[in-house]
Amino acid sequence: MTSSVPYVLGTGTDELKRLDRQHRIWRNDAQASWARAGFGPGQRLLDLGCGPGFAALDLAELVGPGGSVLALDNAEPYLAHLRQQANARSLPQVTTLACDLHAEAASALLEPDCCDGIWCRWVAMFLHDPQPLFDLMVRALRPGGRLVLHEYIQWDTFALVPGGEAVGRFVQRCIAHWQTNGGDPHIARRLPAALEGRGLRLLEARSLQACEPASGAKALWLQDFLRSYSPQLAAAGLWSANDQHQLEHELARCRQQASLWITPTLVELIWEQP
Ligand SMILES: C[S@@+](CC[C@H](N)C(=O)[O-])C[C@H]1O[C@@H](n2cnc3c(N)ncnc32)[C@H](O)[C@@H]1O
Repeated sequence: MTSSVPYVLGTGTDELKRLDRQHRIWRNDAQASWARAGFGPGQRLLDLGCGPGFAALDLAELVGPGGSVLALDNAEPYLAHLRQQANARSLPQVTTLACDLHAEAASALLEPDCCDGIWCRWVAMFLHDPQPLFDLMVRALRPGGRLVLHEYIQWDTFALVPGGEAVGRFVQRCIAHWQTNGGDPHIARRLPAALEGRGLRLLEARSLQACEPASGAKALWLQDFLRSYSPQLAAAGLWSANDQHQLEHELARCRQQASLWITPTLVELIWEQP
């Protein structure tokens, strides 16, 4: 099952490589959350909206040959990348499923109570209707199983201080671009009601927001995003050559003076199926 609604950041090689760099930067946070949720050897895990599968490969190593990781996405090029990597790394416990998480029928693709844990990061924010995704989570998770979500609750805390006027403008244009495409960059605000309303129990919540100098890993991740996404904003008519000139000036200046990069506010939520 594939989607007619394309992922707004694209599924080409540039975005695949950016997702790889992004996962390396956030890997420790992801692994810490998996440990808190009790993910471990022998378990059956789902990675929903897995992308090219960088986290799914780590999860496959975590569950080992006695466990399984089923990775779902609607982007075939990403799933093909994951299958190729799983094969190269001798991780037969990884399987993929092409699935449009918008489709009401998505949850019917999985057996009830079929998994011990679910990992889902940076996916609900891109869906114009996340209800089928929530339904699928609740159907698939066995009693006692855990769901780990990493999603943004406030994307526009993304800032460069001092003097990040062009960065601030860029952030507002990104939000407009995603909202035009049906996404919600503050999706985590809707998760407590949506998941509690489906019977899940909230076990833990924390902020994963960071504030770093220009050379910090997460500061570089933000700078990487500004560079990689500006052509798409420009193509959408939301970013001019003058905007880009000012942005590049700010990027150069932030390395010559003390500056702070503040990330969008990401939250980690761990839920349990009673
Ligand atoms: C920002 S990427 C995150 C990938 C991965 N979860 C990670 O943390 O690296 C968003 C992913 O959501 C997927 N996606 C977006 N809309 C989707 C849909 N309707 N059905 C299934 N997957 C979707 C995209 O293809 C992409 O792989």
